[in-house]
Amino acid sequence: MSVSQIEKNKPTFRSTRPVESSSATLAQSSNMRTYEYTRDTDLTDLQIQETIQTYNANAEEYSEQEWSEQSFKVVWQSVLSKLKDEIFELPENAKILFPGSGSAQSLLTLLFMRKDITATGYDISTKLLREGVNSLNWERVTRLAELIRVATQADSDNEKSRGWVNTIVNLLKLLTHMPELTERASEETLDSLQKRVNLLEGDITSSFFRPESFDMVLAVAVLPHLRKDQVLAAVLGMLNQLKPGRLLYFNVRYDPKTDTDSATTLKNGRVFKDNVIGGNRYFNTYTFSEIEDVLWRLRKKVPFESVVAFSLSHHFDKKKPQFINVTI
Ligand SMILES: C[S@@+](CC[C@H](N)C(=O)[O-])C[C@H]1O[C@@H](n2cnc3c(N)ncnc32)[C@H](O)[C@@H]1O
Repeated sequence: MSVSQIEKNKPTFRSTRPVESSSATLAQSSNMRTYEYTRDTDLTDLQIQETIQTYNANAEEYSEQEWSEQSFKVVWQSVLSKLKDEIFELPENAKILFPGSGSAQSLLTLLFMRKDITATGYDISTKLLREGVNSLNWERVTRLAELIRVATQADSDNEKSRGWVNTIVNLLKLLTHMPELTERASEETLDSLQKRVNLLEGDITSSFFRPESFDMVLAVAVLPHLRKDQVLAAVLGMLNQLKPGRLLYFNVRYDPKTDTDSATTLKNGRVFKDNVIGGNRYFNTYTFSEIEDVLWRLRKKVPFESVVAFSLSHHFDKKKPQFINVTI
């Protein structure tokens, strides 16, 4: 489905009856926001539907949040700045795939990094997709350019404060890209950006592109919305759409408590729920051994050379399960 078709299509999800609350008393709340574990050990189909309804019904607010400075920092510092070298080493005119692209903030940030690449994003929430299409406006694009400029400067300041050996090695690496990056962002025009973006409606649990179509696949914060038995198939599907030897990035939610305090956690469930904006969203959380198990089963099916798990997102609210970022 093309961008112009999105407008014509109604959200594909029928309304569901409200999910009965099965929340444990572990609730952490401040003002109107609540984060808590339900008693479930895996997402139910109703929880998945309710999550998508929440994204659809509150798309404008989610889009505002995704385009906030805080959200930009999470995506930039925990994902894109870590993948800078790989992104700059992509072949000319590379094609990137972004499953679960939401309102397209991270997808557009990546396009700023390389002027020749094109990006295809898809999302199950029709309304958030529409927000992504609407994000291709001058105000958002210039704001993003400024956020990138500030973030790359902050990266460089961080590197400076980490001791002289790191400073020299990392700063040199960073400075190689930084002037290009800010120059590109400021030179970018809406017209050229629009030509390089393709936004579609789609579900990560079914692969709909031809095998080996993309030079990089980045699934940012989408796998936590899947049932555990869907994750392996989704990762295999993404690998199938990736050219051989290229990089796949995804993240899942890891809760340190699940490794140290399993009795309590298991009793109180493993599905994390928030109602930060307008309704409930549910996320699966994993222990390290569960993450290892997924990777192990994956490796048996598709041999790959290396797995790099980098950085838990340090900005993240300590009350919430952290993201663990994996590249293979
Ligand atoms: C936490 S948001 C992340 C959005 C974006 N990747 C970012 O980092 O800003 C999760 C996104 O995944 C989408 N999503 C959830 N389940 C999905 C599925 N099965 N297939 C595709 N997208 C899905 C949601 O609609 C939402 O846009």
